[in-house]
Amino acid sequence: MIDLTGKVVLITGAGGEIGSATARTLVRAGGQVVLHDIDEQALAAIAAALGEAADSVTSDLSDPAATEDLWDRALAIHGRIDVLVNMAGIYPSASLDDPLEQWLEVWDRSVAVNLISPAVLCRGAVQAFAAQTGGGIIINIASRAAFHGEDPDYWHYAAAKAGIVAMTKTIARHYGRQGVTAFAIAPGYVDTAFNAAFRDKFGVEAAAADTGLGEVAQPQDVANTIAFLASGLARHTTGATIDLNGASYVR
Ligand SMILES: NC(=O)c1ccc[n+]([C@@H]2O[C@H](COP(=O)([O-])OP(=O)(O)OC[C@H]3O[C@@H](n4cnc5c(N)ncnc54)[C@H](O)[C@@H]3O)[C@@H](O)[C@H]2O)c1
Repeated sequence: MIDLTGKVVLITGAGGEIGSATARTLVRAGGQVVLHDIDEQALAAIAAALGEAADSVTSDLSDPAATEDLWDRALAIHGRIDVLVNMAGIYPSASLDDPLEQWLEVWDRSVAVNLISPAVLCRGAVQAFAAQTGGGIIINIASRAAFHGEDPDYWHYAAAKAGIVAMTKTIARHYGRQGVTAFAIAPGYVDTAFNAAFRDKFGVEAAAADTGLGEVAQPQDVANTIAFLASGLARHTTGATIDLNGASYVR
């Protein structure tokens, strides 16, 4: 049922754990992927595994100007992008006990990577999708933190991800008639090294105990949801945020 044949998908953070699972899944469904990451080694590994179905672009999302250039380079590869997956993200800690300058430095970096660069890519996508036959689909990776809040050292992350949700709703409400649909996914704890700080302190079992399923999500669970949204089968879900947290937080 899910067939991405003929679709070009740009995935940021594709060298990461959820990003690479997503890339593999979308290619298995017939898609052509443009993989992005700042980590050239991780990017090369996933690109090599996917062969001719994948192209790669590197760029630092902490720089919005470089991000605009990334969009242009990615678009030029096939002359169109049908689906944008804003996956890249960072999770640095910022303690209240840190000096203000240091605390704000983390805010700046987090908001740049987790919110502003995804916004720059959405901006490019809305303009391109509105101008092309068939429109396009935006899938933004938010977080349970947007609704539930986050641990004390991560105010910036919760705030940035809440911004992603609000931005996604805004795009969905205003550009649907021009062929643009937009979705957010809000994962809870996914079993990746992104959560190393929590896992090392409390263990993955603590996160699993908090869910209704008694287990944490794997990268493949997020990838499956992205494949469904990317297929276009959920068009009338535009503007929605899909919770993916094993009922650890039901809203
Ligand atoms: N793992 C979780 O529990 C969880 C939960 C909720 C949301 N998320 C979100 O899922 C996404 C992927 O998370 P993951 O667990 O796969 O983490 P990950 O660290 O494996 O992947 C993130 C990727 O983003 C890339 N990246 C980081 N900074 C960058 C920059 N400045 N420029 C370009 N690329 C950059 C990294 O190189 C990495 O490959 C993130 O947006 C994260 O916020 C993860």
